[in-house]
Amino acid sequence: MANEVFLKLSGIKKSFGGVHALRGVDLEIRRGEIHCLAGENGCGKSTLIKAISGVHEPDEGTIWIDGEEMKHMKPMDAIGKGIQVIYQDFAVFPNLTVAENIALNGELKNKSKFVSWRDVHEVAARAMSQVGANIDPDVRLERLSVANKQLVAICRAIVNDAKLLILDEPTTALTAREVEKLWAIIRSLKEKGIAIMIVNHKLDEIYQIADRLTILRNGAYISSGDISEYDQARFTRDMTGHDIVEDKYAPEKSSEEVLRVEHLSRKGSFEDVSFTMYRGDVLGITGLLGSGRGEIGEALFGLAPADSGTIVLNGRTITIKSVSDAIANEIGYVPEDRLTQGLFMDRSIQDNTIAASIRAYMKGGKLDEKGMEDATNRWIKEIDIKAPSPKPAVRTLSGGNAQKVVIAKWLNTNPKLFILDGPTVGVDIGAKAEIHAILHDLAAKGIGIIVISDDLPELVQNCNRILVMKDGRCTGIIDNSIDEVSLGKMLIGA
Ligand SMILES: Nc1ncnc2c1ncn2[C@@H]1O[C@H](COP(=O)(O)OP(=O)(O)O)[C@@H](O)[C@H]1O
Ligand SMILES: [Mg+2]
Repeated sequence: MANEVFLKLSGIKKSFGGVHALRGVDLEIRRGEIHCLAGENGCGKSTLIKAISGVHEPDEGTIWIDGEEMKHMKPMDAIGKGIQVIYQDFAVFPNLTVAENIALNGELKNKSKFVSWRDVHEVAARAMSQVGANIDPDVRLERLSVANKQLVAICRAIVNDAKLLILDEPTTALTAREVEKLWAIIRSLKEKGIAIMIVNHKLDEIYQIADRLTILRNGAYISSGDISEYDQARFTRDMTGHDIVEDKYAPEKSSEEVLRVEHLSRKGSFEDVSFTMYRGDVLGITGLLGSGRGEIGEALFGLAPADSGTIVLNGRTITIKSVSDAIANEIGYVPEDRLTQGLFMDRSIQDNTIAASIRAYMKGGKLDEKGMEDATNRWIKEIDIKAPSPKPAVRTLSGGNAQKVVIAKWLNTNPKLFILDGPTVGVDIGAKAEIHAILHDLAAKGIGIIVISDDLPELVQNCNRILVMKDGRCTGIIDNSIDEVSLGKMLIGA
């Protein structure tokens, strides 16, 4: 039974108008396996899921589920065959309770006229115990964390008798600890013989969880195999179509001081942190959640100012008590949660790009339209934002390009110090490499670059120096000759 194929796709094609979203994709999912579907943004992953779940009928190709060829499949047919999809928004009902979200579908499917509330509770309790979830069944969904909403969606899929559970980018909004927990649940479902397909493009996460892997690129099937057949080089090549060989970042040595921080403290966050950066330096700040790594960035940007300590930027001692102080001192900051803090998603690329420097475009009480457009065009070109013009809403861009817009917004203020928290979270490998190259260029121009991250490969590869935080204190500043494993040990203080 282990190797028995549950789902097979052959030659699936799908176009939307002139866009070839899928150009002949093959896929095989076996019972009880964890299969990752990987590929860069826009390569067709979500479209493929919609073909499997009967939302989009393919233009060409064949789908077999459980040995049966599916023709003109509708969503109800797919559900009847045990296909359950958890989309990125989970499609849960915010104003219903946990128990109702889990159990109501099933109750309605039974076509009974009356919904038995006792049954709803029993069904929900059983599903939650199956996945080891411990959530108050009577609380409304809107009050749950992202991770718990996702758990509810998984419980609902179990109640609906999932044989293949598909999760579209399930880790994007989760913390590292929540990801661990999700993996544990997924492994327990696998034990029960349920096949799992996870859309994911982060190699480290794929290594943690996948048995097998299929890679798409630009709507086309590229390769498929056991996870053991993929090392980082092959994965990158198959994902992007070219080799990305990033040498470790090693700037020329300089004695030109950019930033000196002495004895910086903020009660309850971090204590007595000191470091000096020279021209060319990209300083990584790392540590576990709660170590104070993010709070240092927030202090330097005035979001949660330090209580004591000295900050010397380009030879001048500066005082940062607020965000306006930071901006007046030419400090830029990309927050960890760029989608809620760094961008106006429904506004244009241009509106976002000039958002932090709008005063510069005020001319005699009027906004200099042309100046703003020129500046935006310049950044689109300079940091290669994939967009036809400055006008589209940021919402229409991929994660990597949206992140470049946040970067453009701060570059347009001419920062002397640029702090980025988690700059490549949720960004594809290709765009990730481009963002790192931009940061290295800026550092070479004499801009102080601080990258706050818990992505150890990213730190070792792209920061020439790494400051390690633990329990609010700096436990060392090291150069990037360290390997990831030793760095990981430093984080936990081993
Ligand atoms: N309903 C649709 N109408 C038009 N174009 C679409 C539609 N759905 C997807 N596309 C296009 O198909 C391509 C693949 O999209 P998608 O499957 O969402 O990619 P992924 O999930 O891998 O990021 C993209 O170019 C996207 O713009
Ligand atoms: Mg998608």
